[in-house]
Amino acid sequence: MIGLGTVGVGVVRLLEQERHLALKKIAVRDLKKERGVALPCELTASVPEIIEDPEIEIVIEVMGGEQPALDFIRRAIERRKHVVTANKELLAKHGPELFALARDNGVAIFFEASVAGGIPLISTIHKGLEANRISAVIGILNGTTNFILSRMEEEGESYQSALARAQKLGFAEADPTNDVDGHDVAYKLSILSALAHGRFVRPESIYRQGIRKVSAADIAQAREFGYRVKLVGMTCLADPDSAGGALSVRVHPMLVPLSHPLAAVSGSNNGILVRGHAVGEITMVGPGAGQMPTASAVVGDAINLASALALPDFASYFQPEIDPTWAATAEPGDFRCPFYLNLSVSDVPGVIGQIGTIFGNHDISIQSIIQRGVQDRGASVIILTQAVLDSNMASALAELQQRDFLLEIVNAMRIFQPEAIHAP
Ligand code: NAP
Ligand code: HSE
Repeated sequence: MIGLGTVGVGVVRLLEQERHLALKKIAVRDLKKERGVALPCELTASVPEIIEDPEIEIVIEVMGGEQPALDFIRRAIERRKHVVTANKELLAKHGPELFALARDNGVAIFFEASVAGGIPLISTIHKGLEANRISAVIGILNGTTNFILSRMEEEGESYQSALARAQKLGFAEADPTNDVDGHDVAYKLSILSALAHGRFVRPESIYRQGIRKVSAADIAQAREFGYRVKLVGMTCLADPDSAGGALSVRVHPMLVPLSHPLAAVSGSNNGILVRGHAVGEITMVGPGAGQMPTASAVVGDAINLASALALPDFASYFQPEIDPTWAATAEPGDFRCPFYLNLSVSDVPGVIGQIGTIFGNHDISIQSIIQRGVQDRGASVIILTQAVLDSNMASALAELQQRDFLLEIVNAMRIFQPEAIHAP
């Protein structure tokens, strides 16, 4: 195993009870660090000692990051070792190359822990839903941000304090900007696109917004309208009748109706909807991050792999069919959904009329509008719209920004309308 941090220690703990599998060596950076667990084998600071060991058949990578993990995994595959990894960044950025390399070398890459922590989402899509043409995978895919948003709403905790707590609990990435700015979800969406639609998506072509701008006031306001704010990621066929066509892949905060199952996904849990033409829609909810849930996925992969080692040419059975080219993505502006807007404006005559005219000019219909006077600071206008094209909302907001009455666009968030994202 390479890495003995949050997840690695969980793997050691879980393998203590496993009679058929044993760790032979664990590589770390700092041999002197206290690990808080009884070590089952020798620690080494040299990863090549693992990769070049002819007795080792499975390499578990739980160190994270792009490099040197990429070089380590390439070399392990070239030495014909099977790989279990929790590293979504690595797979999202180098999946096409790594899966092709594994195929050429007759080995398998297992990656259950890379998406949705302890929820068996990868094996469900890959094996359990194999008979389906999958049109959409939509969900809450980051435990840290869901934990932060839940704490802000339920406990009135500040964003910074909730983030610090998530880091302490071991949910957050080594660099937590990966969580709060949506990169982590973008990596997971790339992997889910490969599984559900047959191609990885370059992370940089995924439309992405994080949760930094979501305030306690927005959360409370959303609640008044019957919504809860969630960071939602999705990978959908842009045209549901055209498998192999462009994908609409995006992550951003959304107002989810309180009646929808995703609104009930709280704390560090994840919740995912998968739509298949035969099954309809399934929802999976469970722990999306943290030591033991993630170790559950890693050790599950290792047990599956180990139980197949004696079979001839088994690797291809476990590998999803993934095209080595990157998926094409739809224009982000073509996405359609209702919006929540929080505008700060001067309290002068005609403001609401002007807002209505600008929205009308951009084919945007207002569903509700509330104005509240704010002492010494004009007024706060909260608007919910009907479903609109993202591109129309962007041009309407650009026009609003030219007007003297607009003090600030405090927030603009999309509203989750499941029926607007095509049905199976
Ligand atoms: P972590 O606590 O930061 O642990 C990383 C481990 O890797 C440390 O033990 C570190 O060694 C070791 N390491 C780093 N660079 C190394 C190198 N060059 N050579 C040898 N060892 C090296 O990270 P983590 O939270 O366990 O996450 C590990 C992976 O799992 C990441 O890909 C992450 O995205 C993924 N993941 C994490 C969670 C979660 O809830 N934490 C959930 C799902 C997936 P030292 O201890 O000596 O510094
Ligand atoms: N940092 C990630 C999260 C870990 O919070 O979801 C699980 O992938």
